[in-house]
Amino acid sequence: MTARKILLIVGGGVAAFKCLDLVRRLKERGVETTAVLTEAAQAFVTPLSMGALSGGAVHTELLSLTAEREMGHIELSRSADLVVVAPATADLMAKMAHGLADDLASTLLLATDKPVLIAPAMNVRMWTHAATQRNLAQLRRDGVLVAGPDEGAMACGEFGPGRLVEVDALADAVEAALRAPGTTASGPLVGRRALVTSGPTHEPIDPVRYIANRSSGRQGVAVAEALAALGAEVTFVTGPAEASAPKGVAAIHAVETAQQMRDAVIGALDAGPAHDIAVFAAAVADWRADLAAGAKIKKQKGASAPALTLVENPDILAEVAARSAAQRPALVIGFAAETDNVAANARAKRKRKGCDWLVANDVSAASGVMGGDMNEVLLITETGEDAWSRASKTAVGERLAARIAEHLAAGTGS
Ligand code: C5P
Repeated sequence: MTARKILLIVGGGVAAFKCLDLVRRLKERGVETTAVLTEAAQAFVTPLSMGALSGGAVHTELLSLTAEREMGHIELSRSADLVVVAPATADLMAKMAHGLADDLASTLLLATDKPVLIAPAMNVRMWTHAATQRNLAQLRRDGVLVAGPDEGAMACGEFGPGRLVEVDALADAVEAALRAPGTTASGPLVGRRALVTSGPTHEPIDPVRYIANRSSGRQGVAVAEALAALGAEVTFVTGPAEASAPKGVAAIHAVETAQQMRDAVIGALDAGPAHDIAVFAAAVADWRADLAAGAKIKKQKGASAPALTLVENPDILAEVAARSAAQRPALVIGFAAETDNVAANARAKRKRKGCDWLVANDVSAASGVMGGDMNEVLLITETGEDAWSRASKTAVGERLAARIAEHLAAGTGS
C-alpha cells in the first residue's frame, strides 16, 4: 500500500504542542506528515522539533524563494491526500470561512482541492461566540470535516467545550477522513450521511457533582463504526462515555449535558447536506437539576440535606422525529432501555417518540447489558418485529447497519 500523506497545518494555540504527538502516532499508523506552522504556532512548537518528529519538510513562510523553487504553494496544497488543521484556532476558522489568504496556511487552505479536516481548539467563550459558530456552520456547508472540540478544563482556567479532541481520537478521525468518500470509501452507504448519539449525559448539581447513568457508550460506538464501515459519513455526538472514539468517524462532537447534546444534534442536522439516517443510542438523562449551583454545595453542621428539584430535559429523539420531512433524516431510529415488559413498552415508545424504528433492549440487572459487552435486542419497525439473539454490541451494530443499508437501498418501508 502506498503511504497515506497529510498536510498538517498547525495553528497558534496552547494545544499546538499536542500535534507533535499526533504526528508521531500517525507515523506509527503509516501516515506521513508534511507540516506547516503558522507564525503564531511557532510560539508553541518549533519547526525543528516538528521536522525531527515528522521526518518530513516543515514550511513556515509564504514567500520563501527556495521553497517556491522546489515546490510552489499551490503544489504544496495538493501534495497530500488530506489537509488537517490542528489546532484550528478561531482566527484560522474565520479565515477559512471567508476565503482569506494572507499567509502560507490560509493560502494553502484556499488553494487546496483535497478534503480538509479541522480540529478546533480555543477558549470556551471564543468557541461559543456567534461568529465562530457561524463560521463553523459555513465550513460544514463547504464540506470541511470537523473533529471535536472536547469539553473540559481549559488552560485558561475556564471549563466547557473548546479543548482539542484527544490525540488518539484525532488520529482516528484523520484515518477516517483518509478513507472518506472521495478518497477510497466503498460500501452500500457511500454518499449517505448518518448521525449517531451515544453515551450517557452528565447533569450538573454543582461544579463537582452530577447526575449520570451507567451507559458506557459501547453500543453507540459500535453502530457508528458499522455505519462508517459501510461507507456512510458519520456525525457522532457523544456524552462523557468510557468507550473510545469510533473508528472511521471524522466528525465527533463531545458534549456533557442533554441540552448540549440536543444543541449539537440540531446544529449538525442543520449544517451542511442533509443526513439520511439518525440513530439515537445515547442514554440521555431524562431530568436535570433545576438550578445547578455555581459553587460547590457545602455540608453544614446541623442543617438538613439540600433538596434537589429535577426538571425535564429536552427529548432529542422526539424533537428530531417530529420535524418536517425536509428537515428530518429519512430514517430515525431510537433505542429503548427497558427493565420489564420490553416488547410492549418498546412498541408504545416507538409510537410516542414518532421514530421509524426502535431498538429495544433489556437492561435489567440480570441482563448485564448496561456497561457490558453483549446485547440482546428486539428491532421494531413500521411493519414488524425482529428478535435478535444475544450478540456482542459490535455484532448488533453491524446487523443494524446492514439492515439500514438494505432499507435505504429498497427505498421503501422495511
Ligand atoms: O424515553 P427513553 O429515555 O426510554 O427513550 C430512549 C430513546 O430516546 C433513546 O433513543 C434515547 O437516545 C432517546 N432520548 C433522547 N432524549 C432524551 C431521552 C431519550 O434523545 N431526553
